[in-house]
Amino acid sequence: MEGDLEALEIELLLEAVARRYGYDFRSYAPASLRRRVRAVLRHERFRTVSRLQEAILHDPAMLPRFVAQLSVGVTGMFRDAGFYQCIRDEVIPRLRTYPFVRVWVAGCSSGEEVYSLAILFQEEGLLPRTRFYATDLSEMVLERARKGVYPVTSMREHTEAYIAAGGREDFSQYYVADHRNAKLKSSLRQSIVFSQHNLVSDEVFNEFQLVLCRNVMIYFERELRERVHDLIYRSLAPLGMLGLGMRETIDFTPHAADYAPVDERVRLYRRRR
Ligand SMILES: C[S@@+](CC[C@H](N)C(=O)[O-])C[C@H]1O[C@@H](n2cnc3c(N)ncnc32)[C@H](O)[C@@H]1O
Repeated sequence: MEGDLEALEIELLLEAVARRYGYDFRSYAPASLRRRVRAVLRHERFRTVSRLQEAILHDPAMLPRFVAQLSVGVTGMFRDAGFYQCIRDEVIPRLRTYPFVRVWVAGCSSGEEVYSLAILFQEEGLLPRTRFYATDLSEMVLERARKGVYPVTSMREHTEAYIAAGGREDFSQYYVADHRNAKLKSSLRQSIVFSQHNLVSDEVFNEFQLVLCRNVMIYFERELRERVHDLIYRSLAPLGMLGLGMRETIDFTPHAADYAPVDERVRLYRRRR
């Protein structure tokens, strides 16, 4: 009974947020959504979802916080070493054939993923002719991504991930650190446009040779996943490449037949035409 009431309240909350602010979470997977809403309640100290709803509706300043807390933002530099190794070995040689390269990182969270790509592209000499577009639903995570500042304590982990992913340089050349923070070099930041884009409701905004949408659609229901796959397919140039998260696949999506694997093990695909 309590569970039913909570489900009803969550439904009303999502309806209210969609109608008042245009952020539509109604097609997100219910189980993880429920966990996130409970986390927001604890964090913001509300006893019920209805109280949270009232606060959000009457205080627009709460919205960015709510959006950030509702989305799972877990990320990291060079997350999944094999994936970045494959970008280096298989993707870069193909991208070299283009005079100018556009890359879209959809659901970029606090930026670690796109900065990893920028580092790799720099080492492979492709950075000067590449423009990265890193987008996310949440303005708050984008703000962190734009700054490119991370706790200095996380740099050890990032360095290890960089080496595991085939990095051969001294990783410390990519940031300037004080006792608390490490700031990534501006030459990396300058190649990236950070912008808000909602995969639920926004449209194609450019044509890309490479799209990464990793660990974002796992939180969506099937219908929304299909919408996003269609959006990505239409955003890719002919023979453009797509990278998904390690727990995701192109199989069983409406566009499965339109892609060939670059390396199925690390979920990298290429548009057939
Ligand atoms: C788990 S993180 C993945 C980060 C990164 N791609 C990675 O794999 O390390 C998921 C990100 O997707 C974003 N996201 C969730 N729903 C979205 C939507 N509708 N449009 C754009 N981004 C969304 C979240 O804000 C969050 O930053």
